[in-house]
Amino acid sequence: LIIVLDFGAQYNQLIARRVREADVYCEVLPYNVSIEKIKSLNPKGIIFSGGPASVLDAGAPFCDKEIFNLGVPILGICYGMQLMGVMLGGSVERAAQREYGKNDITLNTDGKLFSGIDKDTTCWMSHTYFVSKLPEGFNCIASSGNCCNAAMENKEKKFYGVQFHPEVSHTPRGMDVLRNFLYNVCGCSGDWIMSSFVEQSIKAIKEKVGDKKVLCALSGGVDSSVAAIMIHKAIGKQLTCIFVDHGLLRKYEGDQVEQVFKEQFDLNLIRVNAEDRFLEKLSGISEPETKRKIIGEEFIRVFEEEAKKIGKVDFLVQGTIYPDVIESGVGNAAVIKSHHNVGGLPDYVDFKEIIEPLRNLFKDEVRRVGEELGIPAEIVWRQPFPGPGLAIRIIGDITKDKLEILKDSDHIFREEIANVGLDRQINQYFTVLTGMRSVGVMGDERTYDYTLALRAVTTTDFMTADWARIPYDILEKISNRIVNEVKHINRIVYDITSKPPATIEWE
Ligand code: XMP
Repeated sequence: LIIVLDFGAQYNQLIARRVREADVYCEVLPYNVSIEKIKSLNPKGIIFSGGPASVLDAGAPFCDKEIFNLGVPILGICYGMQLMGVMLGGSVERAAQREYGKNDITLNTDGKLFSGIDKDTTCWMSHTYFVSKLPEGFNCIASSGNCCNAAMENKEKKFYGVQFHPEVSHTPRGMDVLRNFLYNVCGCSGDWIMSSFVEQSIKAIKEKVGDKKVLCALSGGVDSSVAAIMIHKAIGKQLTCIFVDHGLLRKYEGDQVEQVFKEQFDLNLIRVNAEDRFLEKLSGISEPETKRKIIGEEFIRVFEEEAKKIGKVDFLVQGTIYPDVIESGVGNAAVIKSHHNVGGLPDYVDFKEIIEPLRNLFKDEVRRVGEELGIPAEIVWRQPFPGPGLAIRIIGDITKDKLEILKDSDHIFREEIANVGLDRQINQYFTVLTGMRSVGVMGDERTYDYTLALRAVTTTDFMTADWARIPYDILEKISNRIVNEVKHINRIVYDITSKPPATIEWE
């Protein structure tokens, strides 16, 4: 295990990602975590992340000094290097010039950290301060134009500092630097593989649950599906899943979830068909946030009613994944949309404890676990789907007829994208019933029907996104099929806005 101590860096998740890409398991912990906690985890190495503060500021984040006496190798990145510098008796100063962006750097490749890397390379930097005097026992092992001590080493103690960011892709050999630290300095073997993770997790769940009862809210999305199957593999019928089908799922989706979980995995699944109930509550409502609120509340009501029938359970499963864990606690951002998720359940259900089997995994790792567990690709590689479902893809009020139009058109769009093999390249794609009507002509007849929008984006984090460049001939085929096969659509437009300024969903 490697610990990444978080000093507030924009890139702390990225560091963790990179370490895992080197097949070494790691966790991000806050900078002020207790030394006892660190000791109890028995890490092979520690990485100090960068951070926005200056070590010279009053109130700058410092870790426990004892960390340097654990005999564990440490790599400080940017702020992390400066922190190591001052905490071990060196000095940090403001540089005459701020270094930002790509910089040429000269490395001393004799040591362990830079071995096998070209002496002259480029790296990405973003700093105003630098270590002006190295602490005792340290050597300078890199310099750039404006920074004489761009990296430092204390060979004996295995302490390293780099002023640049090895974790970002703009540092071309950054991954090699991290690998060198992990393998050469910390002695990690790089054997963190999914199959053993799955095996260990199943064993741990078995031990934790014993013969007790577990309840899970299954949405059919990737996270809750993988979590449910993992627990099912561990404890079989002691797990009950409640799948609330609010009728706002994509075409055939509810049946597919039922088929996979009930028939393929023989899981204890309760499907609640609540479409009428949801549609009734949503009738006449057009305001997006009100729709979300109604769906969120109704979802909890339905779940609660079903859970009551089961009675007291001992554990409740949540499909929390690692980015949720790291990001929680941050958040002064303005509410653009209230992304309701199943997060609000615990208050309403009688249970003792939460189990979060995916709590330490990134999304792509969750997918790898899903594959390892034999979950079909349609579920493991499913694109993200919002909790309120198709309700926020129908602009204005929702009716059963509009829902049918949306489901049918969306199904064609997805089918054609899959046919040309773009389904894993485009990160999210769907149709939107705009609520606008326009005049068209079909045969010799005038029509006055709906305008449908196609939305397709590429993104890594869903915080920003670009519209997907789908080739014209594919768009043409999609358009032809939809207007021919779906009644009441006579015009199709393609959304060519990025996020920002637009959002991915229309509501
Ligand atoms: P936006 O539209 O905000 O979407 O750019 C970003 C991502 O979040 C999803 N999304 C939601 N997910 N409940 C959810 O669970 C919601 O209310 C919700 N609204 C948007 C959206 O599909 C995209 O992946």
